Amino acid sequence: MHLLGSLVLLFATILCQVSSQETVVGLYGQTLEIPCNKGAVKGEDVLLTKWKYDKGDGLSGDLLVRKKTENVSISATDEYKGRIHMAANSSLLLSAAKLSDQRTFTCMMVVGLDIKEYPVNVVVYKVPAVVEISDKAQELEIGKPTKLGTCVAKDANPPADITWLKDNKPLVDARKGISIRTSVQVDPVSGLSTTSSTLEYSATKEDTDAQFFCSARHNLGTELSSSALNFTITYSTENIILQVIAPKPLVEGDNVTLKCLADGNPAPTSFNFHLKGDVVPVKNTNTYTLTHVSRDTSGEYQCSLIDNPAMMASKNITVNYLDINLSLSGYVIKTAGEALELSFQIDSSGDSKVSWTKDNVKLEKEPKFNKLKFSDSGHYESEVKMGALSKKAFFDLVVEGAPVIKQLSKQRSEDGQHKVLICEAEGSPKPSVSWSINGTSLDESPFINGKVTHKITVVPTVNLTVSCTVSNEFGVDTRDINVSSLFEEVRMDKRDQSDDADQTKLVVGVVVALLIAVMVFGLAYGIYQKKSKQGSWKTGEKENGSSEEERKLEEKVEENSQKAEV
Ligand SMILES: *[C@@H]1O[C@H](CO)[C@@H](O)[C@H](O)[C@H]1NC(C)=O
Ligand SMILES: *[C@@H]1O[C@H](CO)[C@@H](O)[C@H](O)[C@H]1NC(C)=O
Ligand SMILES: *[C@@H]1O[C@H](CO)[C@@H](O)[C@H](O)[C@H]1NC(C)=O
Ligand SMILES: *[C@@H]1O[C@H](CO)[C@@H](O)[C@H](O)[C@H]1NC(C)=O
Ligand SMILES: *[C@@H]1O[C@H](CO)[C@@H](O)[C@H](O)[C@H]1NC(C)=O
Repeated sequence: MHLLGSLVLLFATILCQVSSQETVVGLYGQTLEIPCNKGAVKGEDVLLTKWKYDKGDGLSGDLLVRKKTENVSISATDEYKGRIHMAANSSLLLSAAKLSDQRTFTCMMVVGLDIKEYPVNVVVYKVPAVVEISDKAQELEIGKPTKLGTCVAKDANPPADITWLKDNKPLVDARKGISIRTSVQVDPVSGLSTTSSTLEYSATKEDTDAQFFCSARHNLGTELSSSALNFTITYSTENIILQVIAPKPLVEGDNVTLKCLADGNPAPTSFNFHLKGDVVPVKNTNTYTLTHVSRDTSGEYQCSLIDNPAMMASKNITVNYLDINLSLSGYVIKTAGEALELSFQIDSSGDSKVSWTKDNVKLEKEPKFNKLKFSDSGHYESEVKMGALSKKAFFDLVVEGAPVIKQLSKQRSEDGQHKVLICEAEGSPKPSVSWSINGTSLDESPFINGKVTHKITVVPTVNLTVSCTVSNEFGVDTRDINVSSLFEEVRMDKRDQSDDADQTKLVVGVVVALLIAVMVFGLAYGIYQKKSKQGSWKTGEKENGSSEEERKLEEKVEENSQKAEV
């Protein structure tokens, strides 16, 4: 315990002596001044000044001596012989400092009877001659550790410390894909150290514009930097997209361009397009055009990288089509009562919607013609829609046939002065309407849906049977209606009125009316006969060979009828 304590004390003393020893730093190659006793020397008292150096192994070598009155005499015989001088203030001047000069030089002084020694520790520093990056990487691949370069700080003492920096921020070894290996080589002749630092780096996408450089820090406080480098950051494709450039909606006959988009640096320039089983490679472009597509073009398409087939993108292409086939077209002429078959086929790539119009009026459903009616005639149009696609088909249906009288009716006019006979007929082409008596023809309705309505006004003086006849090129139809005498009705109506003069007139009227009734019946019979013979018929036309009396009666009837109308 005691012994250990003594040893520690001794060691501390030595340490203290060493640390108290003066140290002089010189620059490599320069003249180094080694002061004696920090320059605190009084020349008059000094009898002798001598510099020696520590040769190691406890030996020392003499360098030079100055006695009080004499000049400096160089006693060195070794390498120091030509490099040493002594200044007036006793400093040792050592030229062309080298690393081997790093040793202890001792200034010895004889002052009076005292001999004093001042050892000075010499250190020779050298900043690196140059800091530069060698073995620079061509490019950096993202995520792949790459030797970015080697930073060399050449010929320094002590060895320079190298720091790598990215965008002025120091890179620390073993952190985030950074690996820095540093080595120091000592030149066997000069003893100078060359520091080499190799940076291995895993780049990220953000490093695209990053600036890398290295910096060498030296004991002397100087800092030297290399020039900055930047690198092309490469990375392989991470994303691939297949674009389909096509008109919307895509229909048969269009062109479709497939475009393969892939990232990466450098970006890939060659692709494989997979066209439903066929693989088509393309170089220096990323597109492939399908021209004049058809419904068979629909399907799944892919593109992939030629050098990495696993990078693949896929898209479905659907070519829309809408074909319709209507069994009827143009003018369709049919006979009333027949059935008309209608078939309508739709071939489409998707769900379609059909709508029908007849003469521009919407129909609820597809028309059906089990038994054609004249009213079925018209312009039929169907429109099929599928998304933005639409197609139309149309036909014009004409239903022809012999006319048929649908209704023959009579009405009394509001003022009771005449009767209106109404003959409603259907047929196509438009039937012509004729009556068995002359009347004042009222309006004839327009011919719509094969229907025509004909009205006449009559003033019957006797009970009459009137017939309406309709005809067209396909046939004739006739119907009769009994019309009672208006005069009788008039008389009945007026019976209540107690006007003698009128009563007398009415009696005369009744007699005349009765006569006329007989005549008219005869006339009507004659007319019927003529109609049967000739097949065509015109109201009031005189039958050949009719008697004079009949003719006169006819005129009378007309006269009366006109009277009544007034
Ligand atoms: C000693 O002298 C030299 C040359 O004359 C001078 O450069 C130096 O500064 C002096 N040193 C001291 C410690 O005075
Ligand atoms: C394309 O269509 C097929 C069949 O419907 C389907 O299995 C596939 O996932 C589709 N592909 C794309 C990219 O939508
Ligand atoms: C005319 O017809 C009506 C009934 O419609 C009848 O009462 C009348 O007797 C008839 N007149 C003649 C003259 O036949
Ligand atoms: C017209 O009257 C006659 C006789 O009065 C009769 O036989 C005939 O059926 C009637 N016609 C119509 C259409 O009412
Ligand atoms: C009907 O009128 C025409 C001319 O207007 C005439 O020729 C004919 O005799 C008339 N017939 C009857 C039955 O009144």
